Amino acid sequence: MPANKKLLFLPGDGIGPEIMTEVRRVIDWMDQRRSVTFDITEGLIGGAAIDETGVPLPEETLEAAHGSDAVLMGAVGGPKWEVLPFEVQPERGLLGIRKELGLFANLRPAIVFDALADASTLKLDVVKGLDIMIIRELTGGIYFGEPRGIEDLGDGNRKGFNTLTYTTPEIHRIGRVAMDLAAKRNKRVCSIDKANVLETTVMWREEMIKVGEEYPDIELSHMYVDNAAMQLVRNPKQFDVIVTTNMFGDILSDCAAMLTGSLGMLPSASLGAPDESGRQAALYEPVHGSAPDIAGQGIANPLAQILSFSMLLRYSFDMFEDADLVDQAVQNVLDQGLRTGDIMGEGKTQVSTEVMGDAITKELDKLAA
Ligand code: IPM
Ligand code: MG
Repeated sequence: MPANKKLLFLPGDGIGPEIMTEVRRVIDWMDQRRSVTFDITEGLIGGAAIDETGVPLPEETLEAAHGSDAVLMGAVGGPKWEVLPFEVQPERGLLGIRKELGLFANLRPAIVFDALADASTLKLDVVKGLDIMIIRELTGGIYFGEPRGIEDLGDGNRKGFNTLTYTTPEIHRIGRVAMDLAAKRNKRVCSIDKANVLETTVMWREEMIKVGEEYPDIELSHMYVDNAAMQLVRNPKQFDVIVTTNMFGDILSDCAAMLTGSLGMLPSASLGAPDESGRQAALYEPVHGSAPDIAGQGIANPLAQILSFSMLLRYSFDMFEDADLVDQAVQNVLDQGLRTGDIMGEGKTQVSTEVMGDAITKELDKLAA
C-alpha cells in the first residue's frame, strides 16, 4: 500500500475558501474511486493568517509546508488588509512562502478551451487552440533584490529604489526548466528580456544562450519584453514556451491569461529544485486573485483551482492518468454549456460554484465508469 500523499491546504482569503471546497470534493472522489488517498492539513496564509496570528505567513504554516508533499493554495489579499503597513500585508505571505520553499520555477499555462474560445476579447482565430506555457522565475530579480527601500533625502524629497539582480546559477536553473518542458512540447523556447537597456538582462540573454547549447533539439529565440507584450496579443500562437524574469513574467502572464477569456480558468505551479531523495517543494495556485468583490456569494469559478489540483497530480506525483481525468472532466463540463458568471456566454447555463463542483464530480463518475 503506497503511503498517503500529504497535502497542505492554504485557502487564504476572498473566494479562496469557497473554491478550495470544490477541490476537496474532487479529492474525496479520488479517495473513494482511485488507488490513492490524500492526507490534508489546513493552514493559514495572507489576510486570514493576519486576523488570527498578526502575521501573513505564520511559522506554523511554513513548517507544515516543509512537512507536506505539496501545497495547494487559494488566493490572498483584500481591501480589509490594504491599510496595514507594507511589511505585514497579505502579499508578503505569498512572496515569503515562495522564497522560503525555494519555489524558483513558476509554470503558468495559458490554454484556450475550445468551448471558451469566444469568451476572449481577441478574435476567435487568434486564440482558438492556443496552448502556451509561461515560465516565470519566481524567487529572484527585482522582487527580491537588495538594496531596496524608500529613503528620505532630507530636503523634503524622497528616493525609492529596487534592485534587479540575477546570478548565473539562477538563470541556468530556470533556463533548464524551460528547455526540459519544451522538450515535452513543441521544442521551442522564447526567452524574454530587456537586453537593449538593462545589464542584468544582457547577462540573462548570454546565459540563456549557454543553456540553449546544452539542448541542441530545442529552438531558442529571444525577444524584448515590450515586443513580447505586443506579440502576445498580435499572434500568441507563435509561442510555445516562454521563459522570463520574475517581474516580466508577472506582467506577461496576466496578459496571456486574458487571451484565454477568463482569469478564472488558469492554474499555476511553483516548483523548487529536487533534493537528493528526489523530493521537490511545490505549491499550486490559481493565477487569479481573491476576488473580494464576489467572495462569499457562491458564484466564483472553481475551475482554475481544480485545474491547479490537476497540475499538482501531474507535477508532484506523476499521476498523469488522474490529472488527465480531471482535465477532461473540466472540458466536458464546459462542452455541456455550464458556466460560472465570469465565463458566461449567450445560450449557456449559469451555475454556482457548488453546482460547477457537482458537475465535475458527476463527470468524473462517468469518465471512470
Ligand atoms: C502573482 C501576483 C503576485 C505577484 C502578488 C499578489 C504579490 O500578482 O502571483 O502574479 O506579483 O507575484
Ligand atoms: Mg501577478
